[in-house]
Amino acid sequence: MLDVLNRMHDEGLAQLAGAGDATALEAWRIKYLGAKGALKAAMPMLKDVPKGQKPAVGARLNEVKTALESAFEARKATLGSDGAIAGPLVDVTEPGLPMGLGRRHILSRTIDEITEVFARMGFSVATGPEVEDEFHNFTALNIPEDHPARDSTDNFYMGAAGRPPNAAPLLLRSQTSTVQIRTMEKQPPPLKVIACGRVYRPDTHDATHYSMFHQVEGLCVDRGVSMVDLKTALVQFARAYFGDKAEVRTRPSFFPFTEPSAEVDMKMKVKGEWKWVELGGCGMVDPNVFQAVGIDPEEWTGYAFGLGIERIAMRKYGIGDIRWLFENDARFLRQF
Ligand code: FA5
Repeated sequence: MLDVLNRMHDEGLAQLAGAGDATALEAWRIKYLGAKGALKAAMPMLKDVPKGQKPAVGARLNEVKTALESAFEARKATLGSDGAIAGPLVDVTEPGLPMGLGRRHILSRTIDEITEVFARMGFSVATGPEVEDEFHNFTALNIPEDHPARDSTDNFYMGAAGRPPNAAPLLLRSQTSTVQIRTMEKQPPPLKVIACGRVYRPDTHDATHYSMFHQVEGLCVDRGVSMVDLKTALVQFARAYFGDKAEVRTRPSFFPFTEPSAEVDMKMKVKGEWKWVELGGCGMVDPNVFQAVGIDPEEWTGYAFGLGIERIAMRKYGIGDIRWLFENDARFLRQF
């Protein structure tokens, strides 16, 4: 068996030196190192070697194996550096697999579209934090201490862990009207801003309600602003966004931070038919809100509105269930 091994060693190395390209090298690898190659074939012969010679023959078998393997690796590296192809052949002209293109989420696109329409109408963009204090979410918005809107079952209050004892409670904002307050605190009137963002309410999920959704808030403060300006802004938005035939209807309602207050409905095309759809609330800024932020209500008046962005997107794109917007099912999202 030692002869067989020595011959394999010498012939193997000689043939390897003659392997001039990747194909020849691969053929050599299969012949000597492959699963059915010479080395594998020599292994079972070891059992027929007389007991006394076994250690020497076994050691030689290992030497030959190591020698052939390392010579192969060295040859492969040399061929590679010579510019010949050492690995499996690749057809670089073959067309690749088509790449799936990503896209912006339909809600992000709706927010961009809404922002663009209001920007054309002279509104600039304001922002505020999603974690708020009670002053900005309630008190400054004229929502009294005992108002049910402050109830812990109607809001996501933050836990007290890690905060100083007696620290004022924090909550996830329940409406973007908080940004009205933040803006008026920072900027003196006249003001004309919109704020799009997430709001949170522990509402039960169904086809039209979610516990996290988006609103677009509008605020305009100037001298002599009236309900007519409010309705004009809403009609202009509706026509620009939903089409020339869109209409706006306001119905008397109540919000603590506006007086008078109204619900906003817009008439838009839903599955080919023009229908009234409730989108949000609006009204004239209550004098108490102006006072909370140090603006003189005798000098300034203002209007505000807040619309649900999911409801806008659902109607515009014929989406039947708000939950689909948050399930991240690519088959659904890919449609838009
Ligand atoms: C408000 O949030 C007021 N801040 C709006 C406002 C702003 C009034 C400025 C006056 C002046 P309301 O709670 O009705 O109002 O919510 C407004 C809109 O948000 C609703 O009409 C609806 O379109 C949307 N909305 C409310 N709850 C949900 C929910 N759980 N899921 C999805 N959209 C919702």
